[in-house]
Amino acid sequence: PRKVILDMDPGYDDAIALCVALAAEELEVISVTATGGNVEPKLASRNVQALIEQLDPPRWPRIGAASPDQILRADARHLHGDDGLCGAHFQVAPLANQHLSVKVLGDEIRKSPGNITVVATGPLSNISDLLRCEPDLASKIGHLIILGGTVSAPGNITAAAEFNIYCDSDAASQVFRSPVTKTMIPLDLTNEIVLGFDFLERLKTLESRTSKLLQKILPGAYRSSRQHLGIEGINAHDAVAVVAAMRPSLFTTQRLYGDVETSGTLTHGATVFDRRPHSVEQPNMDVAVEMDAAAVEAVIVDTLRKAP
Ligand code: BDR
Ligand code: CA
Repeated sequence: PRKVILDMDPGYDDAIALCVALAAEELEVISVTATGGNVEPKLASRNVQALIEQLDPPRWPRIGAASPDQILRADARHLHGDDGLCGAHFQVAPLANQHLSVKVLGDEIRKSPGNITVVATGPLSNISDLLRCEPDLASKIGHLIILGGTVSAPGNITAAAEFNIYCDSDAASQVFRSPVTKTMIPLDLTNEIVLGFDFLERLKTLESRTSKLLQKILPGAYRSSRQHLGIEGINAHDAVAVVAAMRPSLFTTQRLYGDVETSGTLTHGATVFDRRPHSVEQPNMDVAVEMDAAAVEAVIVDTLRKAP
């Protein structure tokens, strides 16, 4: 299986992504590093810990804590609830000897240079800190999958910007400009998947820990999605990025040069791709431009159905 580190800001869709990743036979989740985003850093770290305790996989991934110094432009408590997990309020054991996410990322990447896929489903603060502190690691990250940004779709936190990129646009810009091998999975694609109420109904028929966990989180997500997004179902943005690590063949990518607007007022945090036919810029990432949405959804649903 492919070794992955999940860098996340739980978040109900981060929770779905974690459940899928832990159950996927294609992946070995070696660590889960928290970043602030949907909720403040401390709560995001607590949520990562809570999710792993609830899922209690046979081999626990190493957990990293979000930096308390992280400064973010927004949160998404309107969608994910004040606790980030839609009011599930899990208890957690006291956190002992936890290292910061950037340290955990650095350790693991140094241990297996070139072999680790990092799936980032929150703001890119940890990845940018890592590249700033240890620039030589840029060539040692096997692959970075970035959930966020848009190509032509509207933003979701502002008219122009996607949430993860907007929250720490400087970090995102630094990561985009870095030489890391990376693939961006934009909202244009993740918006295509809406898990309807039947998804929740099917989960209720399962006895697994995964299903019990999601049943505590997701009802609130269906309510907030209806209220704030006007959709009858929930998006599973972050889980799509995990599927991109499991089954890259379900995605079509294009090599492009991209950067992030960090000073605009209306466009702050927007991702900009140079698609001019005679661009002078060197492409710096692969951008997913098409996916087999039905197959991606089926991977999510089937993996969760078989999850322990
Ligand atoms: C992203 O925003 C967050 O609220 C979700 O968890 C996801 O990572 C989608 O724009
Ligand atoms: Ca997220």
